[in-house]
Amino acid sequence: MLRVISDLEDSHYFGKSVLVRVDFNVSVINSSIGEDYRIRMTLPTIEYLTKRGCRVILASHLGRPTGYQINYSLSPIARRLSDIMPKSRVRFVKDCVGEIVQEEVKRLAKGDILLLENLRFRREEELNESGFSEMLASLADIYVNDAFSTSHRKHSSTYGAAKLFDTRLAGFNLSKEVEYLSMIKENPIKPFTLIVGGVKIRDKIGALENLLPKADKLLVGGAVAYTFLKAQGINTGDSIIDENHVPWVTRALSIYGDKIFLPTDHIIASSPDDGYARMVKGDIPRGTAGYDIGTQTIEKYSAEVGRKGVGTVFWNGPMGLFEIGLFANGTINIAKSMALAFWRGSKTLIGGGDTLEAMKKAGVSEGEVNHVSTGGGATLHFLAGDEMPGIQALEKND
Ligand code: 3PG
Ligand code: MG
Repeated sequence: MLRVISDLEDSHYFGKSVLVRVDFNVSVINSSIGEDYRIRMTLPTIEYLTKRGCRVILASHLGRPTGYQINYSLSPIARRLSDIMPKSRVRFVKDCVGEIVQEEVKRLAKGDILLLENLRFRREEELNESGFSEMLASLADIYVNDAFSTSHRKHSSTYGAAKLFDTRLAGFNLSKEVEYLSMIKENPIKPFTLIVGGVKIRDKIGALENLLPKADKLLVGGAVAYTFLKAQGINTGDSIIDENHVPWVTRALSIYGDKIFLPTDHIIASSPDDGYARMVKGDIPRGTAGYDIGTQTIEKYSAEVGRKGVGTVFWNGPMGLFEIGLFANGTINIAKSMALAFWRGSKTLIGGGDTLEAMKKAGVSEGEVNHVSTGGGATLHFLAGDEMPGIQALEKND
């Protein structure tokens, strides 16, 4: 069982410094922040600690920089945090360990927040290097992990440093992620419908191996559907095929064929950006590729997802190339059916960052889904039953 921050008595918090591993790895282009869902989801944890008189030290990575690169700085995120937390004093420091950080920590008053610079500016972070872990751990009295989406990484900030604290706790967001994803991994409320799209089959195999035996239906869309169709001997034209995984798909179809639904019509084009697309049923002609599910498939899938009766629906990966308007219909309609399923009482879960964007395009709000995971890779690893070092590090408190 994970110990959550609310499990520790308030008296343990007052005046303490708390190192909180957050995942502020959001899209930042020319200092302007895109979707800030991951930032917003950590606010309950940060506020819980500031209200109890803690000095809150936030640590995160951003992107995959090689050494110090100014365009990967977290300073725009400190400004955003300050805007969305007007009652708190938010400071930023240009490094994540060392003397200047120690000095900044000393200057914090109770209830202040300090955001450290990108952890990955120091290569020791990803190497889980012990000296670096010690420096990070020396900054605070208590460790909190609220970065579920980075918990599949065995890095200093998620693992090595965490283990050096006597008190290590889960933040509210991490704990909510674990609760929802454990439900679908172990005991989904039936009937359980899975919707899988996106491009990379390899990333999803582990999760599918675990979930398929429990699922009542798997609706397949996106590029992964073409590999399934190809395995069934249907012509897929120039659509993206993951040749290496045709054997796995063939096996899945032979075991679970009666619960797997594949698209029966497609939106095709000779190139995704020539501004022209058409719909075909069945085979996809040579010289063209599929970029979205067709209307018949949308109708079928929407009816399955929004079906009356309480159950669970888990959706991972878009139904097509939804960034381009011509190919967004499938994904938008699935997002709408997810909202319908929610209103009809099903438990609905969405995993994967790009799906949030699709929801917004569909006019579906975050409040119309039971749980939108902050993790992409982490969610699939968790569902696959893989090791999650960032969670493991919290499990055994001394
Ligand atoms: C993510 O966005 O997947 C997490 O923030 C982890 O980042 P990473 O894949 O670069 O380790
Ligand atoms: Mg990732």
